[in-house]
Order: sequence, then C-alpha cells, then structure tokens
Amino acid sequence: MFRRCVLLSTAACAVALALLTAGGSFAGDDEDKSPLAKMMKKIDVQTKLIREGTKSLTKFKKANNGKDVAKAAAELAKFTKDFRDMKEPSEKMKKPFAKWTDLADRYDAAAKDMEKAANKGDFTASQKAWNPLFVSCSNCHGAFRPEVGDGF
Ligand code: HEC
Repeated sequence: MFRRCVLLSTAACAVALALLTAGGSFAGDDEDKSPLAKMMKKIDVQTKLIREGTKSLTKFKKANNGKDVAKAAAELAKFTKDFRDMKEPSEKMKKPFAKWTDLADRYDAAAKDMEKAANKGDFTASQKAWNPLFVSCSNCHGAFRPEVGDGF
C-alpha cells in the first residue's frame, strides 16, 4: 500500500486512504445486491443497446449496420451459463428448478436469434427478434422475480 502511495500521485493516495477509513461504505448500492442482480444489471445495459439499435433503420445503420447489436446479443448469450445453474431463485420462489432452466434456455435462444439476424445486417429480422427477447426477460421476471419495476 505505502509503496504504491509513493508511486501514485498524492491526490490519488489521499483518496485511497479516505476510502479505506470510510470502511468500505464507498461501494454504494451494489454492495447489497445478489450476484444474480449484479449480472442482471450488465444484461440490462446490453439489452438497452439492442433496443436502441433495432428501433429504426437509421439507428440500425448507425449501430454499425447491426454489428453492434449482434455484439450486445452475443454478450447476453454469454451470461446464460452463469445464471442457468443458480438454484436460489427457484428455491426462494418455491418453483421447479426445471422452469428456471427452461426460461434461461428461451432467453439464450432469443439472444442467439438476435445475434444471427443482426450479424447479417438484416434490420427486419432483427426488429422481429426483439419481441421474443423482451418476452424472455419478462416471463422469467414474472415467475422468479418478486418485485418488478424495470420495464422488462
Ligand atoms: C432465467 C430468469 C431470468 C431471465 C431470462 C432474465 N432475468 Fe432479469 N432477473 C431475474 C431475477 C430472478 C431477478 C431478481 C434478482 C435479485 O434481485 O436477486 C432479475 C433482476 C433483473 C433486473 C434488476 C437488477 C437489479 O438492479 O436489482 C434487471 C434490470 C433485469 N433483471 C434485466 C433483465 C433483462 C433485460 C433480461 C432479458 C434480456 C432479463 N433480465 C432476463 C431473472 C431473469
């Protein structure tokens, strides 16, 4: 720590020490969030990019003719394996684990369909792929998320 302080500027060091003295309370709201909720926040960011990029042909073209949308959709699909095996939500909601994995698989398929359509630069197909993706979020939230309030 102190060796680093010598290397860092005095200002950065003062900030670091202030944060240490604050006892970790600097991490903000995310501190209390579940690992799934943290993952969902990242999913949310990518989903908003997809939503924006598929809103109009102009926006699709702006999103690198769909390439940026495809990239975001590929990011979404990468998360599936991280939450598909989580047992907590089904235990908490007293619902079959098979329902959870089924909803996770639908999300995965919807994200991959979006990736394919957008990668081809096919605006119409990408726009069509939005609804199943959106529904895959809200279906799972309806079943496994006690309080809903994010529009998904
Ligand atoms: C397989 C189930 C499932 C799927 C699919 C799913 N979610 Fe979630 N999501 C949850 C659960 C459960 C929570 C509540 C997590 C918690 O609070 O611990 C949640 C929470 C969230 C939150 C709130 C995070 C926070 O800040 O507390 C956002 C935003 C979100 N999801 C976005 C999305 C979007 C966008 C999609 C679709 C692209 C999606 N989710 C797909 C199960 C799912």
